[in-house]
Amino acid sequence: MTTRRESVLGARPLVGALYPPGDKSISHRALIFNAVAEGEALVRGLLDSADVDSTKRCLRGLGVQIEEVGLGEVIVYGRGWSLDEPAAVLDCGNSGTTMRLLGGLLAGQPMHVVLTGGGSLCKRPMGRIVEPLRKMGARIDGRVGGELAPLSIRGGALRNIDYRCPISSGQVKTAMLLAGLQGQGELVHHEPRVSRDHSERMLSAMGVAVRCFDRFVAVQGGSRLHAMDMDVPGDFSSSMFFLVGASVIGGSQLTLRSVGLNPTRTGGLDVLRKMGARIEVSDSQVVCGEPRGDLHVQYTPLTGVDIGGDDIPRLIDEIPILAIAAACARGETTIRDASELRVQGTDRIAATVKMLRCLGVEVEERPDGMVIDGRGGALEPTEIDSFGDHRIAMAGAIGLAATYGDRRGYVTRADAVSVSFPDFFPLLFALQTEHERLNTLT
Ligand code: S3P
Repeated sequence: MTTRRESVLGARPLVGALYPPGDKSISHRALIFNAVAEGEALVRGLLDSADVDSTKRCLRGLGVQIEEVGLGEVIVYGRGWSLDEPAAVLDCGNSGTTMRLLGGLLAGQPMHVVLTGGGSLCKRPMGRIVEPLRKMGARIDGRVGGELAPLSIRGGALRNIDYRCPISSGQVKTAMLLAGLQGQGELVHHEPRVSRDHSERMLSAMGVAVRCFDRFVAVQGGSRLHAMDMDVPGDFSSSMFFLVGASVIGGSQLTLRSVGLNPTRTGGLDVLRKMGARIEVSDSQVVCGEPRGDLHVQYTPLTGVDIGGDDIPRLIDEIPILAIAAACARGETTIRDASELRVQGTDRIAATVKMLRCLGVEVEERPDGMVIDGRGGALEPTEIDSFGDHRIAMAGAIGLAATYGDRRGYVTRADAVSVSFPDFFPLLFALQTEHERLNTLT
């Protein structure tokens, strides 16, 4: 990663309409599930980003043919549960979803595969998939007793288990489902709080009998998947940067079209509304088992709230941008139960606290979150380091867009956005200057 520096204009309303990029979680699953399905599938609206490229690269290394047929459009030629042993190590880049999901898939394949990744991925915990997959009979090794990548996987026959997962994680749950679908008997996965359920929805739509209820999901070993054409909705997590930006910058009025509104993902929307944000939904529909709709948002003064408990898995990726909403709001916001953020590619609690302090916000760091003293208005122009984290880069940019006066701020290591939203900076600039263009035209 280079050290690209982006400048951001302050105090310009966000005006216009946009289609956010395709959902990252659904894009990974659309590729992986169709790769092991029977038949061919056309996937449209796929996110074009570094993380999804990592999944494509690894699947191709396993012999899966993925044909690029247009912008965000691919045909995946399903192999059933029969992949090729790769000749080389598979590089997951910095994508935790790629490594954890493929870890589960490869645990059931009779071959030897090594999964590695970039510097930040090799620091992220992998014991959370390695330990239960070993219980099912997979032979997996890694650094620090299997806690860290590179992971060496000798897959094969698996015995399904009833697993009580100590953490709520869509990635761990999906790894277990991918292994369980190849195992003997029924795989049961319990989690303490409900995590994102894209896998359950997609597998059901692809013909798998998925039993799920609240914090429990079960599948039968030996299940087959039918390839399914898919249209990936816009990413709710990427949309949140603009929902918050338009809520906190005076004069803003935005429409975000065709955004994924799966309730296991939209905790950030509930919190923003609790803070007083004016966000309306229109044109709701369900496509391939996933709800989506258009979101309309306009500026309104916000007030602080408490964020924690069961809501955390529903907004885990949104905490840096919710922290920006809290910084601009009147009153105090407390974020708790979010210690999982310490083991993302960066320590996201520490990075968010640093970002807020640069923007002139008073904040107390806690082991599992933070307490933010809202300024009840604009932030201070400054320079923000993304620490190589895409969500800090984008949250920081929205913080800078919400500063007072006609000043510029800067985000360093801004190229981190390529992980989930490569066009973020030009799009932000276009929305900031749209009202000037409209004024010139009238
Ligand atoms: C994801 C699950 C979440 C999320 C990540 C994508 C997924 O991680 O933070 O960006 O696609 O399942 P955890 O499973 O670690 O909670």
